Amino acid sequence: MPVAAAKSPTQDCPPFLRWAGSKRRLLPVLKSFWTKNHKRYVEPFAGSACLFFALKPPKAILGDLNPELISTYIEVKYRIDAVLKELSKLPPWNKEEYARLRSLDTSTLEPHVRAARFIYLNRFCFNGIYRTNLKGQFNVPYSGDRCGAMPDDKVFQQCSRRLRSARFVNGDFEAVLERAEKGDLVYMDPPYAVRARRVFREYDPSTFTHEDIARLRSWMERLNAAGINFVVSYAESDEADVLKKNFSYETIAVRRNIAGFAAHRAMTNELLISNI
Ligand SMILES: C[S@@+](CC[C@H](N)C(=O)[O-])C[C@H]1O[C@@H](n2cnc3c(N)ncnc32)[C@H](O)[C@@H]1O
Repeated sequence: MPVAAAKSPTQDCPPFLRWAGSKRRLLPVLKSFWTKNHKRYVEPFAGSACLFFALKPPKAILGDLNPELISTYIEVKYRIDAVLKELSKLPPWNKEEYARLRSLDTSTLEPHVRAARFIYLNRFCFNGIYRTNLKGQFNVPYSGDRCGAMPDDKVFQQCSRRLRSARFVNGDFEAVLERAEKGDLVYMDPPYAVRARRVFREYDPSTFTHEDIARLRSWMERLNAAGINFVVSYAESDEADVLKKNFSYETIAVRRNIAGFAAHRAMTNELLISNI
């Protein structure tokens, strides 16, 4: 019998980004995996890093394949005042401004301006999705009227302080896992894998595939053999069966927003697979 996830957990340091597939609803359970024996937190699929912000670990490595995301974390960590100043110039809930920012060539922007652009597009895009075309240009439509307000400066400043304990890796999850050591807690929240190459092409060049699931599985075995604690979250599915084999797991019922509309909200089961 799956345990139901808490409705809307309040968090003393909420993430400053919205993220499709965020595990905020699982936080009360996820937080319980961190113990006083853990010295460092390692998250190779960071996204909005909601567990990192909730835990306040003394040391962390945050990784993600998304270069815009990682460079935004670096700017928020080191140059928060410049990012906030840039954000204050952007009118919220403004479709024209969204279109203008989306069309910019990011390679021409200073890093703090680029971070402000990323934060703005993330706040007012459809469902906090990050998707690019084959040229790597962000192409998610505006959804501003359905989105909440930009977090206030205090949230950004608190996130900036928490990010002081983190180092960042922009790259594939293996590049992060190679750095994992005994005493780390490794939390892995990969995207859901897609089957057909056609679907893969239609969405995003970085979409997770079935080969990636196999790579992840072999890394779980490797971490386990090295005595490194890990937790993997994944929706109940054939792929989850591959990942959970011979490891312990618990099933949590969560409300999932499938297509962004109330009619498509459904309960799904999320598995937390661990060697702890
Ligand atoms: C489900 S999201 C993580 C959400 C996060 N737990 C949160 O609460 O916001 C998965 C993340 O994995 C990243 N990703 C996709 N493929 C990857 C890969 N091969 N290596 C590292 N990160 C990858 C995506 O960019 C995305 O940010």
